[in-house]
Amino acid sequence: MRILLVSSSPHKEKSHAFLLAKEVLKGFLSSVKIEALHLSDFKIEFCRHCESCHRKIMDCPINDDVCMILEKMLHAEGIIFASPNYINQITASMKALWDRSSHFIHCKRFLGKYVVGVVSSGSGQDKTVLDYIRYYAHTCGAQYTGGISSRAPINKKKAEKAINLGNKLILNIQEKKVFPEQIKVIKGFKEYFKSVIQMRKDDWVEEYQYWLNRGWL
Ligand SMILES: Cc1cc2nc3c(=O)[nH]c(=O)nc-3n(C[C@H](O)[C@H](O)[C@H](O)COP(=O)(O)O)c2cc1C
Repeated sequence: MRILLVSSSPHKEKSHAFLLAKEVLKGFLSSVKIEALHLSDFKIEFCRHCESCHRKIMDCPINDDVCMILEKMLHAEGIIFASPNYINQITASMKALWDRSSHFIHCKRFLGKYVVGVVSSGSGQDKTVLDYIRYYAHTCGAQYTGGISSRAPINKKKAEKAINLGNKLILNIQEKKVFPEQIKVIKGFKEYFKSVIQMRKDDWVEEYQYWLNRGWL
């Protein structure tokens, strides 16, 4: 089982979001392959809306580290997104990465995956940030195991909660847990994209083919 932690704080190893995410990982058995990335270590440019990745899957003219990170996301069964609250949102680096992943949204590439959100903040406010992580998971097709947040420093109670959330993530993956309410939301997003993909079939050739191959049309 592969778990990918994508952490977007420029404080990297010292980041409270990252430290809290590390608590989430703490209970994992050694058979779980964990990879952690700090977005600050990579070159991440903004999406130019050229739609190249819709015509030819994962094809992007920008020469930076994003495609490599997106491939890692595709290969993980569970993804933990950790971000500090920046003006009640994820950081710009996380958003830039997600903007570059619109193919995942078009083709629901996270179907079968589970996502966890981890947020650090100065005020304790986390709702808009965690809601957005949950939204991103659903629009890409993943179910959301849950989220956790903390102001610095992380206390013992919060650390225990984080470990429980990590255990839940592993169980969800092992049991292929179905959250009926979430599946309804994911199906709604998919239904919407069915019409978009059909409308753009002559242009987004490979994404259209992806849908056809799966019998979704
Ligand atoms: C640009 C910027 C915007 C921020 N906006 C908020 C905010 O809206 N609400 C909040 O509670 N904290 C805000 N903070 C504070 C950080 O979320 C807080 O210091 C957090 O603990 C940093 O986490 P880290 O150690 O993981 O980087 C902001 C910090 C920065 C740099």
